[in-house]
Amino acid sequence: MTDTDRRPMGANAEGTLPRSFREFAVAWRSPIEEALESILPTADREPTRLHAAMRHAMFPGGKRFRPLLGLAGAAATGGDLRRALRPAAALELVHTYSLVHDDLPCMDDDDLRRGRPTCHIAFDEATAVLAGDALLTLAFEVVAEAGAEAVVALARGAGAAGMVGGQVFDLAAENAGAALGLDGLERIHDGKTGALIIASLEVGRVAGGAGGSEVSGLLAEYGALIGRAFQVADDCLDVTGTAAELGKTPGADQAHGKSTYPALLGLERSLEIARDLAERAGAVAGRIVELGGGLDGAESLLQDLALSVVSRKS
Ligand code: IPE
Ligand code: IPE
Ligand code: MG
Ligand code: MG
Ligand code: MG
Repeated sequence: MTDTDRRPMGANAEGTLPRSFREFAVAWRSPIEEALESILPTADREPTRLHAAMRHAMFPGGKRFRPLLGLAGAAATGGDLRRALRPAAALELVHTYSLVHDDLPCMDDDDLRRGRPTCHIAFDEATAVLAGDALLTLAFEVVAEAGAEAVVALARGAGAAGMVGGQVFDLAAENAGAALGLDGLERIHDGKTGALIIASLEVGRVAGGAGGSEVSGLLAEYGALIGRAFQVADDCLDVTGTAAELGKTPGADQAHGKSTYPALLGLERSLEIARDLAERAGAVAGRIVELGGGLDGAESLLQDLALSVVSRKS
């Protein structure tokens, strides 16, 4: 193995990570896609319809934000990013399953996702439910390569105490209006979006193989802040974005009486809150990298990542 091979991918000749999250994302785009391609069963294998539906949901993808977070979790704790790659990619299977189910008629009833018909429109509802189930279970098979600690982190983030629980609160709060209050809204966002974001950082830390569990609390603090900011931004983009930018139908939240930040507080105040959350997350970055023994440039990377969650257009 040459020094070039050992260098973390996306690092320059001095072994320093790119400071911008955008450059980091560009550097890791192909490795993530290749890992996903190797994880997903080919569509010519039986049951072909199920595998085709799984692939329809997965390719072409969205931002691949959770795999990137997994890799950032590894970088922030001095881990080996190549070693973290497959478990990090598997996080995208859990996220994509959550989107397939989120779009079902019994949930958000959406027909456009990532610029294409949603899984249940392209196939049928039963196939979409089962494709989601298969993506979720396959993710655990892959994350198990990183060991039980990673599996437990993902199970907690994805399950009743995390994403699934948040989705339950989200559906229960439809048409709740101002009665829900900010606390209720935070509970939804922290569950349906924040929990998997925290788990992604943690899976990356474990899979990278370097950072000890003493840094988990700080990673969770950072993840909770960017997770909430991510969903506030998602709520705002539903109001301000176009279908071409988002790859999903804007205005869907208002049409479904969803409880969102802009609905409760207005756009301007919501964006202010998102920016404040991102700044607070950035302030935690230095402590993570110091305690976790992060790679050179990891602090700036985490800071820029937090800001990009709010400035994104899709
Ligand atoms: C959308 O997630 C659902 C939320 C949790 C807000 P993303 O905005 O990451 O969607 P993709 O993966 O890029 O399509
Ligand atoms: C989805 O939140 C969160 C999960 C899928 C867990 P939204 O319902 O706001 O996501 P979009 O806007 O449909 O992508
Ligand atoms: Mg939803
Ligand atoms: Mg939705
Ligand atoms: Mg949304």
